[in-house]
Amino acid sequence: MAVEQLIVEQMGSRHLDDVLAIERQSYSTPWSSTSFKNEIYNPYSIALVAILEGKVVGYILANYRFHEGHILNVTVHRDHMRKGIGTHLMKLVLEMLRQRQCTVAYLEVRASNNSARQLYEKLGFYEAGRRKAYYIEPFEDAVLMTADL
Ligand SMILES: CC(C)(COP(=O)(O)OP(=O)(O)OC[C@H]1O[C@@H](n2cnc3c(N)ncnc32)[C@H](O)[C@@H]1OP(=O)(O)O)[C@@H](O)C(=O)NCCC(=O)NCCS
Repeated sequence: MAVEQLIVEQMGSRHLDDVLAIERQSYSTPWSSTSFKNEIYNPYSIALVAILEGKVVGYILANYRFHEGHILNVTVHRDHMRKGIGTHLMKLVLEMLRQRQCTVAYLEVRASNNSARQLYEKLGFYEAGRRKAYYIEPFEDAVLMTADL
């Protein structure tokens, strides 16, 4: 698959069934439908889906306040990982945050999530601190990562 084959569009309620199915197979404490809707309808949020051959294969959500962008969720369907989709979505959102005058982006990631941490490091994020026992099921610290935009 080439990233050029992906169609990226704004997440809407029509995508929610597919998004929730991916979310539930990806996390022990998945976001609810309401959590997604809160972002979809928040004017200070960015919510995108990546579509390949008519199917949702990934999504990303971020919001922003003043000059700070917060990456809330980036997830790729397990059958489509390692094809550059996560990187593509992250780059698009970082550019959109820049256009909205953000100068810094931050995110939290499970300390043990090496694949995501590697992805973020490749995009210029670095460890800025830890949030103790931020995650449950299982309990784990979050690494707080930031990137200058
Ligand atoms: C993290 C995630 C979004 C990455 O998406 P992806 O489309 O597979 O990532 P990419 O193909 O763009 O990978 C970019 C780089 O990240 C790193 N990476 C991604 N998956 C990896 C893995 N399984 N093992 C090691 N490194 C990995 C690699 O450095 C990779 O570059 P490379 O393929 O050239 O070696 C995806 O694995 C995912 O949805 N995981 C489950 C949900 C999750 O943990 N989300 C992040 C929460 S903070």
